[in-house]
Amino acid sequence: MSTLVDISFTLNGRPVKVRIPPAKTLLNVLREDLGITSVKPGCETGECGACTVLLDGEPVVSCLVLASQVQGRSVITVEGLGTEGNPDPLQETFVEEGAVQCGYCTPGFIIAARALLDHDKNPSVEEVKEALSGNICRCGAYPRIIRAVLKAAERYRWR
Ligand code: FES
Repeated sequence: MSTLVDISFTLNGRPVKVRIPPAKTLLNVLREDLGITSVKPGCETGECGACTVLLDGEPVVSCLVLASQVQGRSVITVEGLGTEGNPDPLQETFVEEGAVQCGYCTPGFIIAARALLDHDKNPSVEEVKEALSGNICRCGAYPRIIRAVLKAAERYRWR
């Protein structure tokens, strides 16, 4: 029987505590123990970006982070960005621009874009491409995704 460890961290602004095997990834803890299903398992080798979350404000691929590494830290997923009544500008513009096809990669793209816009509210197209370079969309919605991020940047500037 493997030993379990208790970890506590802040998830989308709320304190959470879980008892887990020490080698369990943040991706699996979020989905299996905390019901956060926006965080998607794709490659599980750090290459597709579908599992991207913000860890202390920086984007990380949660398939390569052990949950025990987030003890005492802050994790934000797309569930924590906005509400149905008060969505994040990125959530609005992804819908408006049709930047969603199958939708599997969308939460990861929105989190990566949010990390960019938190640092730079006026990015160039090249900077958006660079910031999203770790995220893969198999449907090929890249032009619409880039338009959605640039449109959201405008709204962040007016906030
Ligand atoms: Fe984590 Fe692909 S599932 S990067």
